[in-house]
Order: sequence, then C-alpha cells, then structure tokens
Amino acid sequence: MSAQILDGKKFSETLRKDIAGRVGALTRQGMQPGLAVILVGNDPASEIYVRNKENGCAEVGIHSESIRMPENTSQEALEAEIERLNADDRIHGILVQLPLPAHLDESAALAKILPEKDVDGFHLINAGRMMNGEKGVEACTPKGALYMIRQTGIDLNGKDAVIIGRSNIVGKPMAMLLLRENCTVTVCHSRTRNLAEHTRRADILVAAVGRAGLVTADMVKPGAVVIDVGINRVNGKVCGDVDFEAVKEVAGWITPVPGGVGKMTITMLLENTAEAAERKLALCTEARK
Ligand code: GUN
Repeated sequence: MSAQILDGKKFSETLRKDIAGRVGALTRQGMQPGLAVILVGNDPASEIYVRNKENGCAEVGIHSESIRMPENTSQEALEAEIERLNADDRIHGILVQLPLPAHLDESAALAKILPEKDVDGFHLINAGRMMNGEKGVEACTPKGALYMIRQTGIDLNGKDAVIIGRSNIVGKPMAMLLLRENCTVTVCHSRTRNLAEHTRRADILVAAVGRAGLVTADMVKPGAVVIDVGINRVNGKVCGDVDFEAVKEVAGWITPVPGGVGKMTITMLLENTAEAAERKLALCTEARK
C-alpha cells in the first residue's frame, strides 16, 4: 500500500492563515512584526531561501528586510550589521543565512544576535533552553518536521526515532524535540556503522544529510513515518535524501520534496517572528502598568 503524503503546502496554508491573523492583531496594536535576513555572498541555494522568506513575510503581513552583503564581508562588518538590527525597534527577528563564507566565524556572529530576536533558535541561550527541556525558540526545520509528524496522529511515546545527520541546524535540535516527545532517539552520522541496521528499527525516520537517494526502500520499516529534510539538485530537478518513489511503497507516511519540510521551515520562521513580536508587546504592556 502506498504511504500517506504529509503535504507541507497544505499544512502551511492553514498555519499561515492563523499567523496572518496574529500578525494583523499585533499590527493593529502598533507592533507589526519585522524580520531581517542577512545574506553574505551569493550562494544560489541561499538566494532561493531568502526569496521564499521575503514572499512568506509578504503573504502574512510581516515587515521584511533583506540585507545582502558581499562575499568578502569582514567579521566586524557583519557583527556591526547585527548590532544595528538588534537596536532597531521595527525588527523582532534576525536571521543570518547559513552557511556563511568560510572566512567568517559563524558561532561568533550568531552569539551577537539578541536571544529575544533569534528566530532560528541557534543562539546558545535558546539552544541551551531546548537542551534543558525549557521553553525557548525552536529551530524552524525541526519544529516544522515535528508538526508534520504530529499530523499522523500516532502516539509518539516510546517510539524509536532515528535521525540521519547531526547538524546544529537540524539533527541536534530535532533530537531534542523528539526526546521531549518521549521517543527513543538515535542520531546517525557519517561515521555510523551499518546505517541500515539503525534505520530499519525506526518508527520515525528523519533524513537530514543532503545526499540524493541515501534512504532506499530496504532501509525503511514498513509503516514508518519518513521525514525528508534533504534538498538536492539532480539533473536540474530538486529532490530529497529519500528515494521517494520506492520508499512510499513501504512507509506509512512520507514528506515530498519539494512541497514538504522546506515549505514548513519558512512557515515556522514566520510563526517564530510573530511570537517574538508578541513577547515584545507583552513586555511593553507590562512596563506601562
Ligand atoms: N540555512 C539552511 N537552513 C537554514 C535555517 O533554517 N536557518 C538559517 N539561518 N540558515 C539556514
């Protein structure tokens, strides 16, 4: 039997209507949410992400600024731009598009963003809160992936979740979120021995490596939830890390690429930006009392 498709476009439509309502309410109270995206250099994939973010903001009524800096930007210039945005009252969320060119220090740049304006959840304070199981900003891709997993309606308690990939952007925060849901979590990576032995046990399988065709049908447990975070280009066509056509005959649920997790990542970024503005409004209201 063919797997049910977890349609990121459809979920996003519903979620973005709700976000637009929240943004409208904030705007009427003089707190229109604002998102600034900094893009250093001209990586074509990052260009596409940034354009999608601009379109997403326009769709829900978020004020958006894209700051494009040249490839040879210095650390000082990048950090000065972040500090300018930290001090800008119209901006509630700051996102530094990753990866940065190799000469720049990613951790130092991310540490400059005010934690309350960190809509990626990458600041050490927010990442630490997640690690501690405290409430904080959740990284957009894992947050979107978890939303899709929840839509299956399966009880996550005690389920075996296997994540392929240990990046700070997806693998590690995804592990924290699934742990919070009481899954038994395994994180596989490039040095993992017998990858298929792990993946075949997975009730929930998340592939976040960036290698087309990595997950084949024989690696998937029948009925599993398969979440494909990969975005690869093969012969000009966009595809994920999962062999979609073959795996959909084994899995219970599967996300397509495109139209799956990628769309949800932007939706979660919009939600995190609206939440940052809501927190700011609450603080301002409190201060006026
Ligand atoms: N590059 C790829 N995905 C992301 C993301 O979610 N946030 C940032 N800042 N950069 C990325």
